[in-house]
Amino acid sequence: MAIQPAEHEHWSSRLAFIMAAIGSAVGLGNLWRFPFTAGESGGGAFVLIYVLCVFLIGLPVLAAELFIGRRGQLSAIGATAKIARAEGASPAWSVLGWVGMIGAFLILTFYSVIAGWVLAYIAMLVGDLAARIGTDGLGALAAGAFANDGADAIGARLGALLTDSPRMILFHAIFMAATVFLVARGLKGGIEAAVKFMMPAFFVMLLALVGFSLLTGDAVRGINYLFGVRPGELIGPLSDGSIIVSALGQAFFSLSLGSAMMITYGSYMTRDTDIPRTSRFVAISDTGVALLAGLAIFPIVFQAGIDPAGGPTLLFQALPIAFNSMPGGGIVALVFFILAFFAAVTSSIALLEASVSYVDERSQGNHRVVVAITLGAICFAIGVVNALSQNPNSPVSAIALPDAVPLLGGKNLLDFFDTLTGNILLPLAAFLTALFAGWAVSATSAREELGFKSEAWFARWRFLVRWVCPIAIGAILIYGAVVAPLLG
Ligand code: TRP
Repeated sequence: MAIQPAEHEHWSSRLAFIMAAIGSAVGLGNLWRFPFTAGESGGGAFVLIYVLCVFLIGLPVLAAELFIGRRGQLSAIGATAKIARAEGASPAWSVLGWVGMIGAFLILTFYSVIAGWVLAYIAMLVGDLAARIGTDGLGALAAGAFANDGADAIGARLGALLTDSPRMILFHAIFMAATVFLVARGLKGGIEAAVKFMMPAFFVMLLALVGFSLLTGDAVRGINYLFGVRPGELIGPLSDGSIIVSALGQAFFSLSLGSAMMITYGSYMTRDTDIPRTSRFVAISDTGVALLAGLAIFPIVFQAGIDPAGGPTLLFQALPIAFNSMPGGGIVALVFFILAFFAAVTSSIALLEASVSYVDERSQGNHRVVVAITLGAICFAIGVVNALSQNPNSPVSAIALPDAVPLLGGKNLLDFFDTLTGNILLPLAAFLTALFAGWAVSATSAREELGFKSEAWFARWRFLVRWVCPIAIGAILIYGAVVAPLLG
């Protein structure tokens, strides 16, 4: 006999839900992963493909995840099984909840390490400002970030952090503790309280930074790099499947899709929320933030004469060096990293909530605090190993699957988890979600739950979710796992 979980909490208002959903979507994916992925993949052409992926593939799946959650009123696994039964389909569809939930959990194990780096940079910037104010007085505020250092010394700070395992683990611990604290306090007392303060602050700081960057940086090159696509330049990326794969992976990661989380947040949604409209709003905001983050970063990076294709260290090496040569750069850099911290927390609480909601539901909904602490502790422990994998002096950094393993071979643990989740688990869960929402759920139920204003838009949604999403995601999964490795 299946247990009957108690009716769970709901968002206190539509606005609270929208801020929580945007808070989860907007994160290190926008500020750290998007700029360096765009940089590695050549800028404008990637950005264009990315935006297409968001609206043609991501958006229909986002609406599907939200409606599954709201209709099921349970965690991702419970909701999917419940709807499947009601539709006369196999409850085995709940595997999409499992894949997503495990994906979200694994993302948190490395997300928290990177967010720990963000905290470490906040600490360094504060320390540096305080020291310089001590010697030069308040005039120090007008100087650049780490004003007494040269570019090499600033670039070396990341290496120094990575080889200092205790420091890395300390900041990872602080970040995980903050995440657990907020999730343990529950929907209204924790998650809503955090996003209501952090998201508006985030947007104000982001806009201020974009203004600063466009005024003081190389705005023309930055804008051209992000948005300038000449038709000829599209042919290369379009024939090179790996760019499409990373654009779609980035779209899923950034919209928090395929990770059980939007289903979970959807289940806290009240009936008066318009799902199609909310989904559109979340997708537009998330993409807008990624592009604004690009506008905040690239003009400064170009101004400082730095290569934008520098990879994952862009945020932690190139950017601080760029802030070094800007007037007021010390304060601006501090604002930037605080912004990144806010974005990271509002995402990490959602990542943890995906599994906490499930375990809490299985234990009759009375043990949120214990569950949050336990899952957080496991996540922290795996994260410690991820952190060590970044320290070249640690034996853990040498652990990797054999190079021959497609996609995952030869990567250190943190990169392994990043690729495993971003390129395999999230697309797989999203693929199953599209099939489930398009084929297993009847048109009548989907129409009723989604509440599109017009039948034509419902028909478009259903066509995308039944055909375009599964075929596109399926092709990309197969390409990534089979074709690309064969091509070498
Ligand atoms: N979207 C988040 C970001 O851009 C990362 C993320 C992926 C996520 N899946 C998630 C966040 C699930 C919360 C829940 O940083």
